[in-house]
Amino acid sequence: MLTLATPDDWHVHLRDGEALRHVVAHTAAGFARAMVMPNLKPPVRTTQEAIQYRSRILAALPAGSQFQPLMTIYLTDSTEPDEINRAKASDVVFGVKYYPAGATYNSDAGVRRLNADMKVLARMEEVGMTLQVHGEVTDSSVDPFDREAVFIDTVLSDIVRRFPSLRIVFEHATTREAVQFVQDHPQLAATLTPQHLLLSRSAMFDRGIRPHLYCLPILKRESHRQALLAAATSGSPQFFLGTDSAPHAQSAKESACGCAGVYSAHAALPLYAEAFASVGRLDRLEGFASHFGADYYGLPRNTGTVTLTQEDWIVPEHYSLGTQPLVPFRAGETLAWRVTSVGETV
Ligand code: DOR
Ligand code: ZN
Ligand code: ZN
Repeated sequence: MLTLATPDDWHVHLRDGEALRHVVAHTAAGFARAMVMPNLKPPVRTTQEAIQYRSRILAALPAGSQFQPLMTIYLTDSTEPDEINRAKASDVVFGVKYYPAGATYNSDAGVRRLNADMKVLARMEEVGMTLQVHGEVTDSSVDPFDREAVFIDTVLSDIVRRFPSLRIVFEHATTREAVQFVQDHPQLAATLTPQHLLLSRSAMFDRGIRPHLYCLPILKRESHRQALLAAATSGSPQFFLGTDSAPHAQSAKESACGCAGVYSAHAALPLYAEAFASVGRLDRLEGFASHFGADYYGLPRNTGTVTLTQEDWIVPEHYSLGTQPLVPFRAGETLAWRVTSVGETV
């Protein structure tokens, strides 16, 4: 058994409408808080829209849930610097998400000309608002497995040079280059997903193509996975939990042009426990899952606890996404850890 302070998920997709009610229940069962990504259709672009989305999330929670959604807004070429002040003053918005336009699901409204956003980044640096980056270039001539490393060299290095105090979370880091870049810059941090800690790209091709393991950034080779796992289990407060749990209907994944996203909210903490146990570092799970993210964002640590027990359970083949089924990560497989108790959270 392992008891931890209640964890938070610093990167999750909760969607909207009918799907929201189904997926938020999983996240709220395991986490006290979660940083909710803004890539809805249309995206959440303003503080006002974030406040409205937050109300819909609260209304979709299971009765009695104390879960707190932490909201983000979506950076576009027309974001106004004053929006950053409204976001900062709101106590609802905790980050601004930077999607290079076309990098991933619902990113069309993202950044096309970063130069258009220099005043916004300057304002964020000034008021202490965190930039959350999807760190991949979108140039189709760049190999998909190299897009993260090229983003660091051609975009992120420049942002960091121009705005040396800007707080930046490198979301869902997938490469040794990202780990190194974060370690070299104390104002940066990174979230790490369960799938990138547990799997390398070979898993996508295990006896056939595995659409449910396709996410962006795409899984990388084994040496990168090992670099991520070393960072996660190092005890460094710059690396913390962010599932990037991203639900898509089964039919949208099992398609000639399948959507990117791995759904892990149903088993997030057991999956991270498996990754940490694989290198004998369960003692470092609490910092990663429950302390470092809150510390980075300047929010209080949770006071409740959760208990993980080493006990086999089989992940269901499907969960509901409302009108359609969803295939979760590790569907039909046995997991070795389960959450057996959730204590009071304040
Ligand atoms: O795999 C992904 N799915 N990567 C992202 O960046 C977005 C996400 C989604 O919203 O489905
Ligand atoms: Zn992303
Ligand atoms: Zn994401």
